[in-house]
Amino acid sequence: MRKNISRIFHFSFFILHLSFAVSAQEVEQHRPQFHFTPKSGWMNDPNGLVYYAGEYHLFYQHYPDGTTWGPMHWGHAVSKDLVKWEHLPIALYPDSLGYIFSGSAVVDEYNTAGFQKGKEKALVAIYTYHNMEYEKAGRKDRESQGIAYSLDKGRTWTKYAGNPVVKNKGDEDFRDPKVFWHEPTKKWCMTLAVHDHAEIFTSPNLKDWTYASSFGKNAGAHGGVWECPDLSNYIASDGKEKWVLMQNLNPGAPNGGSGVQYFVGDFDGKGFKNDNPPEKTMWFDLGTDNYAGVTWSGLPKNRNVVIGWMSNWGDYAQTVPTKTWRSATTIARDIKLLKTEAGYRLYQLPVKELNVILDAAATKTESKTMNFDGKVLHKGILQHSLDLSFDLKKATSTEIGFELSNDLNEKLVVGFDLKNNKCYVDRTNSGKKDFSKVFAVVHTADYAFGDKLTLKVLIDRASIELFVDKGKLAMTEIFFPNKDFDKISLFEKGKGSSLTQSKLIPIKSILK
Ligand code: FRU
Repeated sequence: MRKNISRIFHFSFFILHLSFAVSAQEVEQHRPQFHFTPKSGWMNDPNGLVYYAGEYHLFYQHYPDGTTWGPMHWGHAVSKDLVKWEHLPIALYPDSLGYIFSGSAVVDEYNTAGFQKGKEKALVAIYTYHNMEYEKAGRKDRESQGIAYSLDKGRTWTKYAGNPVVKNKGDEDFRDPKVFWHEPTKKWCMTLAVHDHAEIFTSPNLKDWTYASSFGKNAGAHGGVWECPDLSNYIASDGKEKWVLMQNLNPGAPNGGSGVQYFVGDFDGKGFKNDNPPEKTMWFDLGTDNYAGVTWSGLPKNRNVVIGWMSNWGDYAQTVPTKTWRSATTIARDIKLLKTEAGYRLYQLPVKELNVILDAAATKTESKTMNFDGKVLHKGILQHSLDLSFDLKKATSTEIGFELSNDLNEKLVVGFDLKNNKCYVDRTNSGKKDFSKVFAVVHTADYAFGDKLTLKVLIDRASIELFVDKGKLAMTEIFFPNKDFDKISLFEKGKGSSLTQSKLIPIKSILK
């Protein structure tokens, strides 16, 4: 009964929010135009990413009644193309076992849990319960794992009566289950973040779980708490089957706050074996605004697609200057595992489906080689995909790059320091900055330049996603100019490099 009252209460709030948000969406300056945002209220991690019956599901950590973190629900949206999203009602509400923290969802293809009744397969969500009463009482066993199922393509959800399915033996951080089916052992596997390492559990039926192994206490970066692990299977560029553990960390990222490190190795259904020595740390995105990324389940074997939360948990997620909503996701990205001289490395690019919102007819292409210092590539509303190719003359040209600017003299600078082998994003004068002491700074990434450089850049109202040399390096950054940036211009320090091609394509808004 209490549950029903709270549902009705939440539902009326939701309706209120909806009607408010439709108009707020049009007016708020920094609302991204082609990235997913909640209609109103707070959002953090993407959750329950699963593809089923022609729909990509995106659930997300959501507090509908405020724009800062609060009692966690799973918000819900679906897409047919990973790009245009339809908002659906909240999928999971907090209950007597706790708030609904991050987790994953799977299609129970063989009905191992027995939830499926008719033809429609059961979607099963596996998530963390965070018990606030326990937390207030100082109990460490505050987090446990629960499951819920849907028999109507994710539209309604029933929590399993036997929850929790994984109990806590006293680990303060014990959360964010990512579950996948392991065909060779015919078992479900779950990776769980347990403070400073990941634990793997296995199950025949999603209900009964057995601890199998631990990984990471002494591997990779440990500047903060390990959260949201994602162990997934990849077919690498050399045709080999490999496993990648993406492991979110907060704080402890190279440019501060939260970030994603990853490990490449093998998995036998029980334990993960790292290819690299334990001290080796690899980062998925060297910007500061890509966190809690996880991959979709239910995709074909050779496709791995990730989406992240485009903010920084540790540094300013709760204070960025938006009013009716907070946070966006990154663009969905295809990830490939390339065999390189240094070993296996993740490459990432926007999903090819982005084409559906590219205004191809309005593409501006230039393909003659030219000096480019001072060249203005574009003036007007900035909501674009930008491809640039350069021939680099490192002997005489020390730095190249581009800036987004407005007539208030605010700018975001993206630079390539050819002398010191560094890419950087400079937010020092990018607009609003009072909301955080660490926002308006320069972020850098080491990068060994060759003789050519290609860039793919996605620019929305308040974000930039930079993919260098076909996705070898990614940097994702948000910004909040007082007036929208409306100019892109190129610069060079020293002389000799040339621009060989530029392509600028407007991106259509996904907001209705
Ligand atoms: C990551 C995280 C998760 C947790 C969720 C709570 O951003 O802290 O570890 O499940 O957010 O909202």
